[in-house]
Amino acid sequence: MAFKNINFEIKEHIGVIRLDRPRKLNALNQQLVQELVSALRKLDADDSIRCVVLTGSEKVFSAGADIEEMTGKTFVEMYAQDHFSEIAEAFLKFRKPIIAAVAGAALGGGCELAMMCDIIIAAEDSFFGQPEISLGVIAGIGGTQRLTRAVGKAKAMEMHLTGRRMTADEAERSGLVSRLVPLRKLMDEAMATANKIAALPPLAVKAAKETVNRAEETSLREGLLVERRLFHAMFATEDQTEGMKAFTEKRQAHFRGR
Ligand code: COA
Repeated sequence: MAFKNINFEIKEHIGVIRLDRPRKLNALNQQLVQELVSALRKLDADDSIRCVVLTGSEKVFSAGADIEEMTGKTFVEMYAQDHFSEIAEAFLKFRKPIIAAVAGAALGGGCELAMMCDIIIAAEDSFFGQPEISLGVIAGIGGTQRLTRAVGKAKAMEMHLTGRRMTADEAERSGLVSRLVPLRKLMDEAMATANKIAALPPLAVKAAKETVNRAEETSLREGLLVERRLFHAMFATEDQTEGMKAFTEKRQAHFRGR
C-alpha cells in the first residue's frame, strides 16, 4: 500500500510513523486509518523492529476523527464500516512498544490515538481533549475508557462532558503523559527512549508491555464495547447531524436534545 496520509520510515530498529495530512490537521479519515493499520502490520511482521514512534507535525498531533467524512453518515454505515475499531484492535494486538510523540493538539480521536500508545512523550505546547460532545456524539475509539483509567473519573468526566482541554502541564501532572519536553527536543527524546527500549531484551520488553497492559485491561473490553455501541447510536440522533453540519458550515450548532 502506498502511503498518502502518513509518512513511514524505518531507522535501524525503530519504525517511525508520522501522520501527514497537514491541511486537515491530521484528521483521521478512513484512508489514514487504513494506512496506519497497514504500517502497524508491516512493523509487527518485521522482526528487526523493536519499538515504534508515532508522531504528527510540530503543530498538531491529530485533530481527531474526520468530521467532514462522518457528517452525513448513518448508524448503519458507521456500524457496518467500523474502521475505527480496526485501528483500535491493531494497537491492542501490537506487541512491541509504541511511543507517541505529541506536539500541538491531540483532540478527540487524536487524544485516543495517543492513549492507544504505551508511552506519551509530549511537547510543552501540546494539549489534550475529548470534544466530541459538542458535535452531538461521544468518544468512540476508547476515550471514555482510557482517559478515565489515565487521569481518574473526575477529570475524565469533566473533559468528556464539557470538552475542556487539558494543557501539557496538567496532562503530565495527571499521569496521561509520561514526560514533557521542549518542542525542539521532542523527536530526539522520543527516539532516544525508543532506542533505549530497542537495546533491551525484546522478549522481556514484550512481556513487560503485556503485563502492564493486563493491569489496565480488566473489564476494559466491556467498557469499550458499550462505548462503541453508544457511539454508533449517536448517529441516530438529530443533534449529531446538526453538530457535525454546523462544524463544517462554520456556524454555531443548535441542539434540540433529539
Ligand atoms: N475533521 C475534519 N477536518 C478537520 C478536523 C476534523 N476533526 N479538525 C480540523 N479540520 C479541518 C478544518 O475543517 C479546516 O479545514 P478547511 O481549511 O478546509 O476549512 C482545517 O482542518 C484547519 O482547521 P481550523 O479549525 O481552521 O484550525 P484551527 O487552528 O483554527 O483550530 C482545532 C484547530 C484543532 C482546535 C480545530 O480544528 C478543531 O476544533 N477541530 C475539531 C476537533 C474535534 O472536534 N475533534 C473530534 C472529532 S470527532
